[in-house]
Amino acid sequence: MAERNALSLGITSRNSLFCLFTIISILFILSWFFVLRSTGRPNFIDHNLLPNSKFLATSDDRGSATHSQNEVEPSTGNRSILVDAEEQEEETSQENEKIDVKCNTNDIEVAQQKENKVVLKVFMYDLPPEFHFGLLDWKAQGGSVWPDIRSKIPDYPGGLNLQHSIEYWLTLDLLASELPDAPNAPRSAIRVHNSSDADIIFVPFFSSLCYNRYSKADPRQRKSKNTLLQEKLVRFLTAQKEWKRSRGRDHLIVAHHPNSLLDARMKLWSAMFILSDFGRYPPNIANVDKDVIAPYKHVIGSNVNDSPDFDSRPTLLYFQGAIYRKDGGYIRQELFYLLKDEQDVHFAFGSVQKDGIKKATQGMHSSKFCLNIAGDTPSSNRLFDAIASRCVPVIISDNIELPYEDVLDYSQFCVFVRSSDALKEKFLINLIRNIGKDEWIRMWQKLKEVENFYEFQYPSKEGDAVQMIWQAVSRKVPAIRLKLNKYRRFSSNAVRSDRGVRSVPSPKNFWPPGESL
Ligand SMILES: *[C@@H]1O[C@H](CO)[C@@H](O)[C@H](O)[C@H]1NC(C)=O
Ligand SMILES: *[C@@H]1O[C@H](CO)[C@@H](O)[C@H](O)[C@H]1NC(C)=O
Repeated sequence: MAERNALSLGITSRNSLFCLFTIISILFILSWFFVLRSTGRPNFIDHNLLPNSKFLATSDDRGSATHSQNEVEPSTGNRSILVDAEEQEEETSQENEKIDVKCNTNDIEVAQQKENKVVLKVFMYDLPPEFHFGLLDWKAQGGSVWPDIRSKIPDYPGGLNLQHSIEYWLTLDLLASELPDAPNAPRSAIRVHNSSDADIIFVPFFSSLCYNRYSKADPRQRKSKNTLLQEKLVRFLTAQKEWKRSRGRDHLIVAHHPNSLLDARMKLWSAMFILSDFGRYPPNIANVDKDVIAPYKHVIGSNVNDSPDFDSRPTLLYFQGAIYRKDGGYIRQELFYLLKDEQDVHFAFGSVQKDGIKKATQGMHSSKFCLNIAGDTPSSNRLFDAIASRCVPVIISDNIELPYEDVLDYSQFCVFVRSSDALKEKFLINLIRNIGKDEWIRMWQKLKEVENFYEFQYPSKEGDAVQMIWQAVSRKVPAIRLKLNKYRRFSSNAVRSDRGVRSVPSPKNFWPPGESL
């Protein structure tokens, strides 16, 4: 200490500052050395400097198991409880991959793809047909609740109904996963019949179709079929052992139309929803942490034979849609006044009706940029029509949530403008005019790469919307497991207290206070 004082008092040249630094460093290293010696364990340094190294952690566990049974691992504990079946599978497939590499180097990519793929195991309730294909006027035959999709697939009604047909494609894909001659394209989800083996419990209710077709009450009845089916669904679900076991936390419910499941959503809040946006949901009922955003099925035809020709698209900016004056929709009218006198801008009101689809297709296919403005909900199928048209989307919707955004960077192929900026005089039009040919072509090429992520089809193909949605669900599964394990902390108390162990059963034991949704 005296030495340090003398140094810092007397000397100010750069050389001595360097000395001071060296001395402090040496002291620091020495103190570390003493700490290490006092623990008497050379392993200590590995644990603390490389806590995330899987190799070190596992080899260390094995080592300590053979060397000393009594010693307690201070930082890692016994990791074997964390190694689940998937990780083991991963390890074996890594070994397989090494063999593949030896045999044929061209297969490396294929092997890696296989290794990274996690197949979601889905248990699907055998709901009566009135909840799904019965709504498509399919009649059950021979006691089966599911159509034989090898002979005929019931059609989903066309036109604008199709925008929200996500429920139909997901259900078909699960049924297809069981066919003996299932197309062996890489599959992201398979149906399992034992719910104990499942990652997720799928509720095959065609809620959007039910809303579109049956939300108007028959004059002779007080309630619409849409309302009655939802009540029936809640009664069915809450009586199932699968629901009771998790209070619905591992259930997956599709409610893509913003008005679908309107009556039941408050009772089924604990499940994972597949939605188009959160516009009509309170944040505790639906939110981006718990739920999955799925694209609309585009109604405008794909622009398959298109080339990245900037100059062949005469319209700079295209918008066709309804006027909304409520919620965030007032911005459409404001933008109309800002843009109506621009020469190469098409901005017109009137929603896309049946005969309008052809016109809108023509319009979007011949425009460089397509506006997507918040309407009465933050999302609309217009964005997905634009992507299919390879018309670079310009998104003015501050609260929009986008499909697969946890793995996809939309700024590479969309232009985002804040509503407050878009309403400034000339801001939007100048921004668009300043995007040059090269930048536009780059975005066009990205659109071409991603457009398959938004295609719904049967049979589903690799990387299409069906597979992408299952993968998005898979990414939520670890969070569900966490919630369920937390939930189980107290639920076994009920069983014990029934056996006479002293414990007060109360709703608190089932609902840990402060549990986040
Ligand atoms: C860790 O747990 C596994 C299985 O539970 C056991 O076989 C192994 O001996 C344990 N290792 C240590 C170091 O306690
Ligand atoms: C379902 O799986 C669980 C655990 O994997 C098993 O204990 C149970 O017997 C199975 N049920 C049926 C009906 O096979």
